[in-house]
Amino acid sequence: MLSSLLKKIFGDKNEKAVKELWPIVDQINQEYEKLKNLSDDELKNKTVEFKARISEATKEITEQINELKTRLQTEKDAEQRHEIHDQIEELEKELTDKYEEVLDEILPEAFAVVKDTCRRLVGKSWEVAGSKITWDMIPYDVQLIGGIVLHQGKIAEMATGEGKTLVATLPLYLNALTGRGVHLVTVNDYLAKRDSEWMGEIFRFHGLTVGCILNTMDPEDRIKQYNCDITYGTNNEFGFDYLRDNMASSKEYCVQRGHNFAIVDEVDSVLIDEARTPLIISGPVDKAEHKFDEMKPRVERLFRKQANYVASIVKEAEQLLQSNDPKDREKAGILLLRAHRGFPKNKSLMKLLAEPEYKKLLQQTELEFLRENSKRMPEIDEELYYAIEERQNQIDLTEKGREELAVGSKEGKDFFVIPDLGTEISKIENDQSLSLEDKIKKKDELYHLYSERSDVIHTINQLLKAYTLFEKDDEYVVTEDGKIAIVDEFTGRILPGRRYSDGLHQAIEAKENVKVERDTQTLATITLQNYFRLYKKLAGMTGTAETEEGEFYEIYKLEVVVIPTNKPVARIDEDDAIYRTKREKYNAIIEKIKELKEQRRPVLVGTTSVEVSETISRMLKRQGIQHNVLNAKQHQREAEIVAFAGQPGAVTIATNMAGRGTDIKLGVGVREVGGLYILGTERHEARRIDRQLRGRAGRQGDPGTSKFFISLEDDLMRLFGSDRITNVMSKVGMEEGEAIQHPLITKSVERAQKKVEENNFAIRKRLLEYDNVMNQQREVIYARRKQALEGERLKGEIFDYLEDFIDTLVKKHYENGEIEKLREELLQNLLVDFKIDPDTWEKLGEDGVKNEILKAAKEFYDRKEEMLGSDLMARLEQYAVLNVIDNKWRDHLREMDDLKEGIGLRAYGQKDPLLEYKAEAYNLFINLLDELRNEVVTFCFKFWPQAPVEVQSRRTAPATRIQTIKDSADNLGLRTSQPEGSQPHVKAKPVRVEPKVGRNDPCPCGSGKKYKNCHGRNE
Ligand SMILES: Nc1ncnc2c1ncn2[C@@H]1O[C@H](COP(=O)(O)OP(=O)(O)OP(=O)(O)O)[C@@H](O)[C@H]1O
Ligand SMILES: [Mg+2]
Repeated sequence: MLSSLLKKIFGDKNEKAVKELWPIVDQINQEYEKLKNLSDDELKNKTVEFKARISEATKEITEQINELKTRLQTEKDAEQRHEIHDQIEELEKELTDKYEEVLDEILPEAFAVVKDTCRRLVGKSWEVAGSKITWDMIPYDVQLIGGIVLHQGKIAEMATGEGKTLVATLPLYLNALTGRGVHLVTVNDYLAKRDSEWMGEIFRFHGLTVGCILNTMDPEDRIKQYNCDITYGTNNEFGFDYLRDNMASSKEYCVQRGHNFAIVDEVDSVLIDEARTPLIISGPVDKAEHKFDEMKPRVERLFRKQANYVASIVKEAEQLLQSNDPKDREKAGILLLRAHRGFPKNKSLMKLLAEPEYKKLLQQTELEFLRENSKRMPEIDEELYYAIEERQNQIDLTEKGREELAVGSKEGKDFFVIPDLGTEISKIENDQSLSLEDKIKKKDELYHLYSERSDVIHTINQLLKAYTLFEKDDEYVVTEDGKIAIVDEFTGRILPGRRYSDGLHQAIEAKENVKVERDTQTLATITLQNYFRLYKKLAGMTGTAETEEGEFYEIYKLEVVVIPTNKPVARIDEDDAIYRTKREKYNAIIEKIKELKEQRRPVLVGTTSVEVSETISRMLKRQGIQHNVLNAKQHQREAEIVAFAGQPGAVTIATNMAGRGTDIKLGVGVREVGGLYILGTERHEARRIDRQLRGRAGRQGDPGTSKFFISLEDDLMRLFGSDRITNVMSKVGMEEGEAIQHPLITKSVERAQKKVEENNFAIRKRLLEYDNVMNQQREVIYARRKQALEGERLKGEIFDYLEDFIDTLVKKHYENGEIEKLREELLQNLLVDFKIDPDTWEKLGEDGVKNEILKAAKEFYDRKEEMLGSDLMARLEQYAVLNVIDNKWRDHLREMDDLKEGIGLRAYGQKDPLLEYKAEAYNLFINLLDELRNEVVTFCFKFWPQAPVEVQSRRTAPATRIQTIKDSADNLGLRTSQPEGSQPHVKAKPVRVEPKVGRNDPCPCGSGKKYKNCHGRNE
């Protein structure tokens, strides 16, 4: 009810949004008519005119900004510099608004220019991704609408085959006129190359430059591509370049020039499916030995015991189910639930639960036990060694499990319990018999014990997960060279180089008896979500966005506009056919394929995993039916195969990402037999992915059919299928091999999908909340880094830091009159010798002493500058800031990782782990800033270069063992993060000073507010 009501509102809203754009389309077409009679040169001149108009409109603000930037280079006072930075920020905003204003004005003419350029290109040929094409496109009116929507920074939903590649050229051209660079983001290298070559001629006609970032390029090449007016590339390349730029030791090695406007193709895939995995640049870590190999035999024993136990109770349940006594049924229900929580993937159990009746019994029992916060669940779990929450991917050891683990080992079962820190600490605190020293010692021991136990439990948990929830050839594969490779759950593609986090990967390595690799540590990381939020303007296009409209808006503030198709859709979407078992379903699928093959009708078989693709392929082979299988491994070749999927009698099996973005044209005679047939072998978790699959047929008004074949054994149905389906199926009393098909059932399936979608959205949102904390911190750190990198003089900041530093020192020693200690520390940290007699010390007071020291230190610093020269001193400062930031930030990322891991492990009672995480992350960050400041100060004071070369040497040092995760390792060329042995020579003693976040920086607590309006309010 509610949803249909919402739909009505959204639907109306959408129609209205589109309707408002038609007058602009009319304007474009009027302008277009005027252009027809111009010569080529006259048309080209339009671009020059536009550019002039834009620069005229923005001249004033730009000049102001440039002036301020020049001042930044020389201004030494930190306060002043802050001020200037603020002013620049304001002006930049104004400038962006101004640009938008002019672009909106120019839009009709500019779009008309693109349309007319297309017209002039018709009949011309050029090479695109290795084959020759002849241009034949002039944008349709609905495509102009799509272009306007993209320019407005929204998502244009346009069905497959509507020509989104062309649509993007309109706003790309328009926005490129500002010269600030526009990015078009694709899902793979092949599409980036294809689209940049295919569309490039339009831009080049007008003298605009077009670039394309490919995985194999070195930094020099990348710089060239980014300097183009329009740059095509994949999301990974853009994201990693950003991270690497923020690890660069010198400005020359930065490749990107800001984040102005991006259009993301297949935006749902990038911002929703891929958003969950962060981009990580990592290097190896030196950490204490892991315990996976050591714990494995015990966990394996535990796993076997539980597997046997579950097998026995499933048998018992089976027998009980024969009886008609309600007591027996109740017992059976309990056994089923226990078995399910013990080993959900047990084969006999799965078979049993395929019977709708039994499944229902399980669900009812579960509901009973879930009541009142799972009050009675322990009754179920106590017989088990560990209990599995399949839906949440979580495992808990039981008392019995702990006892079993302790058998035959020197440790007792307490070894597998994490002590409750809070209680234990208060016990120590309240123990009157302990001296202060003893208390500290005891607490130290406690922390030690805690971390050791946490480590053990963590190892065991991950191993249990590896055994019970991760199956070989499903979630992962073992490669020929003995590595564990993850299989992407969405694309079925093997992800080289990517590892599960949190020790899970190592656990699987231990399980499969391959070498347990060393853990790697994060050097830089960002989620795609946060990367794309860097853009001043973001837009997206895809065939399927509507179902995720809420998420796009909530997370990215992106509105979705559904654009009508150029010709009405003629595809027939049939209702799902539901079978009882997978076997029956697969048989029916093969029969259907045979039937279609006989009609010479092409069929595209969509699967949700590589495994299913292979099963079907095997079955077809047995029947001697020729076919192609695509797993999104080789984009170019697969694109070619998919393009042929519309030929008479073609059978193509593809996972849902394979060949996305490639056009399927119908062969001769195919239209007459009904067009392309889309056969889904399983419903995906998300409706969107299913719609994407259906959308492969019926492009530009072509005929076509789509239908899904599903079974009660499919994961989706098993985990989330509603009772209704089960009921209907048991009532109807189906024969072997029979299916039911009814609109109501299809609706139920979609409801189940919606449940999963909501669940997944919640997970993504939660992840984002965690990531946001880090994102705020990253912004602060990267902003400081950037200042240093841009060569602003940092002396002011360093004196600021110095003040804090001295402040803390004096506070520490003044009250106790520790003149000598203070002198020693100053000498040690700053090389400043501060002599003072007790009388003067008294007379000056704390503030007076502070000022004296500050004066002496500044004098010392100025003298140093005189000796070394300002130039070298400036470089030294720059070096200190960059180097210290990089070191400390890396350590910090590591601590944040540990923190996140720990938060999940700790039993927080009623506390919200996210809040705990935020609070602790805040403290860590404040510490980080303290340390940063102290180290920078001591470095600048203490470091005396032997020769100027030393400061420079870092620039050309080669990158060592750095790896990007999420894709194969990239060629890093010259840009380097942290050559070994380049740490500052001085390690400052940790000294606590008050936090000093920039007042206008985002508050590190993650609130999203500026520091001065949040934690920094009282400063
Ligand atoms: N205005 C046009 N006139 C003629 N043909 C067009 C026009 N626009 C697009 N096409 C053709 O439509 C086909 C599909 O284009 P394109 O691959 O850009 O679609 P898409 O919307 O990106 O689809 P997908 O969702 O599969 O990525 C191409 O063969 C293209 O040549
Ligand atoms: Mg496309």
